[in-house]
Amino acid sequence: MSLDLILRNATLPDGRRGVDIGCAAGKIRVVGPALDATAATEIDAGGRLVSPPFVDPHFHLDSALSLGMPRLNQSGTLLEGIAIWSELKPQLTQEAILARAEAYCDLAIAQGLLAVRTHVDICDDRLLAVEALASLRQRIKPWLDLQLVAFPQDGFLRYPRAAENLARATRLGIDVIGGIPHFERTMADGAASVRALCEIAAATGLPVDMHCDETDDPLSRHVETLAAETVRLGLQGRVTGSHLVSMHSMDNYYVSKLIPLMVEAELRVVANPNINITLQGRFDTYPKRRGMTRVAELRAAGLTVAFGQDCVMDPWYPLGNADMLDVANMGLHVGQLTGRDAMKFCFEAVTTNAAKVMGLEGYGLAEDCNADFVILDAADPIEALRLRATRLFVIRRGKVIARTPARAAELRVEGRPASVNPASYAPNVA
Ligand code: FE2
Repeated sequence: MSLDLILRNATLPDGRRGVDIGCAAGKIRVVGPALDATAATEIDAGGRLVSPPFVDPHFHLDSALSLGMPRLNQSGTLLEGIAIWSELKPQLTQEAILARAEAYCDLAIAQGLLAVRTHVDICDDRLLAVEALASLRQRIKPWLDLQLVAFPQDGFLRYPRAAENLARATRLGIDVIGGIPHFERTMADGAASVRALCEIAAATGLPVDMHCDETDDPLSRHVETLAAETVRLGLQGRVTGSHLVSMHSMDNYYVSKLIPLMVEAELRVVANPNINITLQGRFDTYPKRRGMTRVAELRAAGLTVAFGQDCVMDPWYPLGNADMLDVANMGLHVGQLTGRDAMKFCFEAVTTNAAKVMGLEGYGLAEDCNADFVILDAADPIEALRLRATRLFVIRRGKVIARTPARAAELRVEGRPASVNPASYAPNVA
């Protein structure tokens, strides 16, 4: 067998150890123990975790790295963030959007984040961001998969030219239909926007990914309409509800009826833990609500649940670093997902589940999948989360595209080792 790349002695996310992975022509050709073959490039994983790349199923690339432009968010609320973004929009240029987006993609690739679904604001009649990111999507394809969601930030019905702009954005090649029903003027308008957008998705054949119920109001129930419209139009498996924050505050009886409807609709769910924990509960005194949707319950019902990053250094969130382990770590804490199985799920929420939300083809570690990997300086997925592990190698289509040295602190303590790597301590827990 002629191979270009062999990864030796890998631990896989499903727990298999001592696995070799042989690759040729950008694809995985063989996965198994002690592979009897050679290749031009052989990398010894040394028993460390080899994962398919990280996937961010919910991001805003058009606003990333714009923190402070033109001012900072003083209240920390979603609504002030939207107001700041509206102030910045008229000043945007394609060059500025591209420069920030490319800088972000560099950061993402370096951290093994090789697929991003980005919402792109279409409530700017120039559609600069759609044009800029559509061209970037093409150019960056050898290294990173970018999906564009047409996102009517100022409301599909509330913004007068949103429908017209959506049609133009569709012609420019957007991948997914977005929405923001909780930002429409009334609950009725919110529901009407969900219906209209799902009908457009049914007519165009595009999937749907809606910002839905990103509010602490327990009566914000647009996810119910989203699920019902999905069933009515036969869109099962093609629709994602992002945020679903109001579910955190809903009455338990209502949720007991809602979740089965979501299952019937085969909705995909994306929680954005870093953003939900900081934007929500801002009108509470104490106790302050956490805001993240009911991840454990949705997962237990059999729905595909993923974690997204949403924002990095923009009007809504001043931090972030293209690090999906940071996102998964936050989701774990906010959702109190500390059981062994639940922690493994948190890793899946930024890898396999996120890939399923994006509908990525050829994703995974089976034969014939793309030869895309991250070698992490960690013994297993839980350790990767604990350590926010170093990405020693990032590999795309069988080629190394980024490397980071293992962390090593020089230690000057008498009688103790001269250097310490946090990853060197691996607990003996199955
Ligand atoms: Fe978002």
